[in-house]
Amino acid sequence: SSDERVITVNGVVRSVAREDLDLSLLEYLRERLDLTGVKNGCGVGACGACTVVIDGQGKRSCRTKLSSVLGKNVITVEGLEGPDGSLHPIQQSFIDCGAIQCGFCTPGMVMSAYALLLREKRPSRDRIRKAMSGNLCRCTGYQQIIDAVEMAAK
Ligand code: FES
Ligand code: FES
Repeated sequence: SSDERVITVNGVVRSVAREDLDLSLLEYLRERLDLTGVKNGCGVGACGACTVVIDGQGKRSCRTKLSSVLGKNVITVEGLEGPDGSLHPIQQSFIDCGAIQCGFCTPGMVMSAYALLLREKRPSRDRIRKAMSGNLCRCTGYQQIIDAVEMAAK
């Protein structure tokens, strides 16, 4: 029934049109909900720029069918903003550590970090590096990104 075609995105319950069911979650978020913080880097699951958090797990939205997330809870980078528009501590750490250059990879990086810190309060540097290894960055050389996640965990 149409009652079952719902998805929660950043705390808002959305009903999904039948004709949208073939979209990827990436297409749905960007094109239907205008959540353009979700980046389309490669479209084939190889870069992590499209990472969102689905029921607490970091997932690549380009490789996720919208039809597979019905009834689930999706968080995008837009959903991390505080009620007053303030940045999430992870986002602030990225800024403070100089972990953002062109910024294209940043929303996916932040969401992977967010998912990691949901699971583990104080991950080791090695854990952070592994957890972020599916997110590619052409600019920073990764060191500052690992620093940022470590700072956010403190
Ligand atoms: Fe999804 Fe690259 S756009 S992994
Ligand atoms: Fe440019 Fe990461 S800051 S790709």
